[in-house]
Amino acid sequence: MMADPLRLGVNIDHVATLRNARGGALPDPVRAAVIAEQAGADGITAHLREDRRHIRDADMAAIKGAISIPLNFELAATDEMQAIALATQPHAVCVVPERREERTTEGGLEVAADQNRLSHFIAPLRDAGSRVSLFIAPEPAQIEAAAQIGAPVVEFHCGAYCDFDSDGDIAARDAEFARLSDGAKRAADLGLEVHMGHGLNYQNVTPIAALPEVVELNIGHFLIGEALFIGLPAALAEMRRLMDAARA
Ligand code: PXP
Repeated sequence: MMADPLRLGVNIDHVATLRNARGGALPDPVRAAVIAEQAGADGITAHLREDRRHIRDADMAAIKGAISIPLNFELAATDEMQAIALATQPHAVCVVPERREERTTEGGLEVAADQNRLSHFIAPLRDAGSRVSLFIAPEPAQIEAAAQIGAPVVEFHCGAYCDFDSDGDIAARDAEFARLSDGAKRAADLGLEVHMGHGLNYQNVTPIAALPEVVELNIGHFLIGEALFIGLPAALAEMRRLMDAARA
């Protein structure tokens, strides 16, 4: 039996990283979003970081205005970001942990120890009509806490699995994969929609895409890097082909 097709969310943050390297307007992340939509992306994801190191405030509104597929707005749980998201009214909001000194989002959100604050943070976003997801490690305590505070979606940080070298410790990699697979089952049992993201590429996407509970993958850095060599439509098409094949 064929499982439902997987959605592909394309994260365009690093087009903005490249733009900001020279301080001008090019390459334009809005153009990347439009091209990704034309090439079959199911959604566009962008992370407005507190330090604005890639996406900026004006980008978010411009992206939303330029695309007709869903915008997934990644943000830290701060008052400032909540206000911007409420003004932007994206289709989806993904709450991520953020540390200023990190190179990228390094771990999952601490939901279990911060339930009260996070439930107050997500309630107005949910009431405004955004689908809220929490970016967490695939740990039972975090999954259960996400369900308890009423988040309809969890996105698992799959970096601990994806970042393994092919010649690295296979047993440790398999243990990470089992955590993702068990976590996906647990989340689905609790009625949560399951997404995954971080570090996905052509080499590691197949086992993740084959997990039947997973409905969406969010992929950025690899696709934008690959686009430099073969173009964004071709990079997306190859990722889509691998995802569909894994699902068949
Ligand atoms: N999902 C979330 C919540 C993220 O924060 C990121 C970027 O860190 C991604 C997916 C995409 O990760 P990558 O750029 O490694 O594909």
